[in-house]
Amino acid sequence: YDLWLRYRALPAAEAARLAPHARAIVAPATTSPMLDAAIGELQRGVGGWLGTAPARTDEVRAGAIVLAMPATRGATAAWFDGLGQEGYRVLRTRLEGQSVTVIAANTDRGLLYGSFAYLRGIATDGAQKAPDLRSTPRLPLRLLNHWDDLNRHVERGYAGASIWHWWNLPDILDQRYTDYARANASLGINGAVLNNVNAKPDILTAPFIAKAAALANVLRPYGIKVYLSVRWSTPLELKATATADPLDPAVAAWWRAKSDELYAAIPDFGGFLVKANSEGQPGPHDYHRSHAEGANMLARAVAPHGGIVMWRAFVYSEDKPTDRARQAFDQFTPLDGQFDKNVIVQVKNGPIDFQPREPVHPLFGAMPRTPLLMEFQITKEYLGFSTHLAYLGTMFEETLRTDLRPGIGAGGQAATVTRVLDGTLDHGQATGMAGVANIGTDRNWSGSHFDQANWYVFGRLAWNPEAGAEAIAREWAAQTFSRAPRVVDTVSAMMMASREAVVDYMTPLGLHHVMGTGHHHGPAPWVDNLARPDWNPVYYHRADKAGIGFDRTAHGKGGSGSAGQYAPALARLYEDPASTPENLLLWFHHLPWTYTTRSGRPLWDELVHRYDAGVTAVAAMQKQWDSLAPYIDPQRHADTAQRLKVQHREALWWRDASIAYFQSINGLPLPAGARAPA
Ligand code: GCU
Repeated sequence: YDLWLRYRALPAAEAARLAPHARAIVAPATTSPMLDAAIGELQRGVGGWLGTAPARTDEVRAGAIVLAMPATRGATAAWFDGLGQEGYRVLRTRLEGQSVTVIAANTDRGLLYGSFAYLRGIATDGAQKAPDLRSTPRLPLRLLNHWDDLNRHVERGYAGASIWHWWNLPDILDQRYTDYARANASLGINGAVLNNVNAKPDILTAPFIAKAAALANVLRPYGIKVYLSVRWSTPLELKATATADPLDPAVAAWWRAKSDELYAAIPDFGGFLVKANSEGQPGPHDYHRSHAEGANMLARAVAPHGGIVMWRAFVYSEDKPTDRARQAFDQFTPLDGQFDKNVIVQVKNGPIDFQPREPVHPLFGAMPRTPLLMEFQITKEYLGFSTHLAYLGTMFEETLRTDLRPGIGAGGQAATVTRVLDGTLDHGQATGMAGVANIGTDRNWSGSHFDQANWYVFGRLAWNPEAGAEAIAREWAAQTFSRAPRVVDTVSAMMMASREAVVDYMTPLGLHHVMGTGHHHGPAPWVDNLARPDWNPVYYHRADKAGIGFDRTAHGKGGSGSAGQYAPALARLYEDPASTPENLLLWFHHLPWTYTTRSGRPLWDELVHRYDAGVTAVAAMQKQWDSLAPYIDPQRHADTAQRLKVQHREALWWRDASIAYFQSINGLPLPAGARAPA
């Protein structure tokens, strides 16, 4: 339950190192809820480690932790240089002649983040070194998207029910809300969209606004703003208007009045998230209006209050059966420049749907006049739910580091996706990252202990997209399990290899969307009878007697051309199988089973090899985990061991079912030395 904020009693030697430097907490005299939250956390952390919590005082004394703002007596101006509104500096220094630890920031929010950073530093190094930290966030919007329904079901949730107890709200406030806020604040997450993108009109009725306001009051001291997902046709469905046409004045007036009502209840309300004309959701297209016309109408309703609209680009047409991977680009690029200033287009990391591996979404880098927000999925819809161990840090990092214009980086700097988000690549406006949350009522919050790491790494990368998946894995492991090098090395090694293992046993070499229908757990590459052709796995792998893969080139016979949506330098790479990264080979190309891969093996043999390598990698994780039994408490060790056992069984299932199915299509024998399916 404590996540990475465990604060268990320190071993004597470490406690002896920390105690002389954590005798008291000196804080600015004018207090605020956020400052109180920072102090409360410092007391909780140090108190947990040392057995007694340091008292708050307003007098500087030796060995104190001093929360300093520019007006603090004796403060050095240089501490605050470049910290902006959210950054912090932590250092050991002298103040008024006393040796102290200073946490410096320009704002209460900076002090809150600095306090968590100070605690993280001790949790990861055992108070060995004097703290010396300085950090500012690279991206302003660091958001969780909860796909939580109002009946507490969580869409694609694998960790119990929704933590939002809508029935009890607004009067009964669960302690979980505060602990959720603490965990997020420790990472710098500063916003939460409370409800599912498949939204219900009810969320905008007075009772639910009161409930959301009660949550906002709990989250506010931790620097977290509340946002809501809204259903396009809400006023129509609530029978307040006769249409949901965005250009109808009555519709716009309703949204304006609703926004005023929301801001009266939640003065710092963040804004709206919208899924429109996507997977059956209503939207402006129903009235022959564009996404921009729809988004702008909503944006104008919240603009006077400083709110934003996050308009999702997850769209694919029901009636035009072109390659789904190209449709968002086709629909949105013509609208570049047409969105109001306070609209941000929210784009999934890849063009299909949160697969174990996808190329970057072609919209990144293709909307130079529109701010884009990254949408990652923290909950593992297509990566084994909360049963399989898959650390997503490597996957997030792979997307963020993708060079959108390889070889032609402006001024020597690569045109990475991160630079689309921080605005330095073209449109000049920094945006951020949204993560579809994996949080629920399970005692461990995320369904499995290791899935806590995916929440953690999302938050840490949203703060600094270049922080490094491995460094973050090590940091998480040290705080969550133990600082023992053996534990940190082994756990982080498991994590770093885990996502590639999943890719190998589920969707090697660029295969995608071959999961079981609806639930998306387990293999079903044979399915070909769903209502929409672009939901069928066979549509994506296109295996036949001669070959396999989806031709997305421009030149191939029947190629969909989606490779050509990338900037020319990247498109050139993807157009040719020889220069396409092998891990995306069958995403972009339909190739004969005999095609020679980089290992020298024919494609069919390579595919079989990859499936098997995935299974082997899971077995290796089991061994690594077993070796940690002496270092991990029995409860968490056993829980993880059980999950790894299921993962191994299901990896075998993936391998054997996939190979047997493709064999039934190509009629090829198993490569020499390969094991026959069990
Ligand atoms: C996926 C997912 C849906 C979700 C959708 C979305 O398709 O399976 O449950 O609603 O993404 O992102 O809107």
